[in-house]
Amino acid sequence: MKGESMILILLGAPGSGKGTQAGVISERYGIPHISTGDIFRKNIKEGTQLGRKAKEYIDKGLLVPDEVTNGIVESRILENDCGEGFILDGYPRTTDQAQVLETYLGKMGKSIDAVLNIDVPDEQVVERLSGRFMCRCGETYHTAYKKPEVEGICNKCGKELYQRDDDKPETVIERLREYYRKTAPIIDYYNGKGLLVRIDGTPMPDKVTELIEKFLEESGYGTRR
Ligand code: AP5
Ligand code: MG
Repeated sequence: MKGESMILILLGAPGSGKGTQAGVISERYGIPHISTGDIFRKNIKEGTQLGRKAKEYIDKGLLVPDEVTNGIVESRILENDCGEGFILDGYPRTTDQAQVLETYLGKMGKSIDAVLNIDVPDEQVVERLSGRFMCRCGETYHTAYKKPEVEGICNKCGKELYQRDDDKPETVIERLREYYRKTAPIIDYYNGKGLLVRIDGTPMPDKVTELIEKFLEESGYGTRR
């Protein structure tokens, strides 16, 4: 085991498989999976003020403003379960967010261990998002690549699956545009800091997990569970 904690960032276009991979790695390494998208969706469902604000942007395929997003992450990473590290899925997504995160971590005496960029071509992204089904417990399925045992029902908790509102084709296109406008530049930012690791996101999910685990093992991070 390398050090006491592991802080990973998962970068990648919408639908590249960040949530799928973060879920598996979080379980195997025993560290929390923090998805800003999931936090926004939970707030939208609960009808909070944050949820109402986030929905204005999410429904249009746009990023939620940095001043709203940064504060949420700061309070989440200060929670007790983050002591041994965490996986950030979908944050940071702008250069400003990346710089703010460094300030937060610096205050905590911590730093990022690696930024995994899950690389998938745009055509596959659109196909993945149009076939995606979600469960409220956090599990993600796909009509072709990850089918539930019983159609429309979650394997883990038995609840009914649903499609995300922002997976409509026109919103997916806007999310991709927003990704190239605002998020893609941070690939170079992290590359310049020597933290970027490219992960081929095109094989089936289990294979992508193997690639990530291979990198983590070679870097000296042992599984905790
Ligand atoms: P968020 O929820 O983060 O959405 P996203 O980045 O668009 O990414 P997705 O969750 O759609 O895809 P994913 O990469 O997790 O892929 P998944 O594993 O599900 O954010 C939603 C919105 O919230 C944003 O648009 C923005 O408005 C706002 N937001 C969030 N964070 C923000 C931030 N930091 N700043 C500002 N705004 C923010 O996989 C996709 C599908 O493919 C699934 O069906 C899966 O089963 C399947 N699949 C996965 N891997 C494979 C594989 N290897 N082969 C075949 N199929 C696969
Ligand atoms: Mg996701």
